[in-house]
This record gives sequence, structure tokens and C-alpha cells, in this order.
Amino acid sequence: MTVDLNSLQNVQLVREGHLAIVTVNRPAKLNALDGQTIAELDAVFAALDGDASCGAIVLTGAGEKAFIAGADISVLAKQGVLDGSDNARAGQQLTLRIENNKKPVLAAINGFALGGGLEMALACDVRFAAKTAKLGLPEVSLGILPGYGGTQRLARLCGTGTALQLILTGDPVTADEAMRVGLVNGVFEPGELLAQVKAIALKMVSRGPQALALAKQAVRRGVHLSMQDGLALEADLFGAISSTAEMKEGMAAFLEKRKPSWLRA
Ligand code: COA
Repeated sequence: MTVDLNSLQNVQLVREGHLAIVTVNRPAKLNALDGQTIAELDAVFAALDGDASCGAIVLTGAGEKAFIAGADISVLAKQGVLDGSDNARAGQQLTLRIENNKKPVLAAINGFALGGGLEMALACDVRFAAKTAKLGLPEVSLGILPGYGGTQRLARLCGTGTALQLILTGDPVTADEAMRVGLVNGVFEPGELLAQVKAIALKMVSRGPQALALAKQAVRRGVHLSMQDGLALEADLFGAISSTAEMKEGMAAFLEKRKPSWLRA
């Protein structure tokens, strides 16, 4: 599916300085992910990955009710074996696009984050929820299992006990419960969520852009490695950042008691 970034239908991309706010925009369907929406999100995240003027990305949902209420069930209902695999692959590719993005990606979970919606949030680097949000993987109640990485990422983030409780009951948890089990990093009043998440994103943007990308890579790749290999990766990436213009600027700014001025487009 070819996507024209200038005429997106189901996704809104707003730039605010070095921040990119990506909003899934199908509020009448609680921002459910159909093929068009997944293709548009994929294209947007790919473009932002290569855009040096973008320092951090916030992912959220349109309206007050939902972040993303899952994959579009009307599409899933019609799928056969091949469509099902294609659908899972497209969703998984999008989660990898989010997870491997060079920029920090923050989820602002403004309402229901269910099924594929929670799976998108799980691929983000950090997650913040409105107090009213509900988060869950209800797939087994539809006779399917999570297919956009939920079985893997939830278990890695929260442990198998919590993951299996959510996945096998299909019941959602409140934002406070999600906070308790480490599924989200913070909970805010609904009216304050986006502003708070933007403030955290701006804090990240104030740091060295290459340092952010390499630190993210060290963590993202390191969790799949042994401690020995992970430390070797960290040392390699530390070597890669050493003596860059960015490192020199960061050190000089500290010694000269001023704010660093990072090189950005
Ligand atoms: N796929 C397709 N459409 C969806 C959807 C989804 N995942 N989630 C919500 N919608 C649609 C509804 O069909 C409805 O459309 P309609 O007005 O044309 O009938 C609209 O969004 C509003 O949803 P509705 O169910 O009326 O809202 P609600 O407040 O009563 O319930 C939910 C909200 C989230 C509890 C409920 O919509 C729901 O359970 N959604 C499915 C969640 C899910 O199982 N996701 C995982 C999919 S794998």
C-alpha cells in the first residue's frame, strides 16, 4: 500500500519544533487499526526516523475515549490463513519500526489501549497513561491470540506472571494497576496527559541526539544478549560516540558552564 504523507487519512502528524506528535485519527472506531492506518503509521514512523529535525515522537489517539482499541475486528473477522499472516506481519513490522526508531518514542495513552493498541504502546520506549485509561490484551475473548508482539513484549516488560494474567484472562487493567505492574511509567489526569508527555519528550530532546540514539540501541539490542555480549555492545557504542562533535560539544558546554548546542537540521 503506497502512502502519501501529504494526504494521510487516518493518522495526523503535527510538528511542534523538534517534537513530532503522531495521532491515530479514527475516533468513530475508537482508533482501531485497519490496513490503511497501519500503512500510514508505518510510513510516518519511517519518515521521522530519517528526519534529523525530529528529536522525539509522541504517539497518541484522537478523541477522549481511546488511544487505540485494537486491530480492526471487522477486518480480522474476514481474514483467512494468508490474510491473517499478512496482517500480523504488517502490525509486527510497525512495532519494530517504532521500537527501532532512532528517536525516543513516547506513548500518551489517553483511553482504551487494547489488543493491537496496547501492542503499539509496548513497542514505544516509555508509556504514560491518563488515569481513566484501560489497558489489556483481550484477544482470547475473540478466539485469537495477540499477534503484534504482545506475547513477547509484555512478558519481557512485566514478567511472565503479569503477562499471562492479562493475556489468559483478556481482562483490562486500570492505569493505576498498569503503573503498579510496571506497564506504564506514569499516570496523569486526562486533561494533563499530553502536556506532561510533551514535557518529558522535550527533556529528552534537550539531550545529545546521537547519544539518545545509541543509548536506546544499547538497551534495545542489549536485552536480547548475554551480559558479556551486552557489555561488549555498550563498549562499542561508547567508542562510537567518543570524540564525535556531539561529545565535544557536551563536554565543552559543561566545562564552560553553558547549555550545549546540539547539531540538528
Ligand atoms: N475494531 C473495530 N471497531 C471497533 C473496535 C475494534 N477493535 N473497537 C471499537 N470499535 C468500534 C465499535 O464497533 C463501534 O463502532 P460503531 O459505532 O460503528 O458500532 C465504535 O468503535 C465505538 O465502540 P463501542 O463498542 O460502541 O464503544 P463502547 O464504549 O461501548 O466500548 C470498548 C468500548 C473498547 C470496550 C469496545 O469498543 C470494545 O470492546 N472494542 C474491542 C476491543 C478489542 O477487543 N480489541 C482487540 C482487537 S484484537
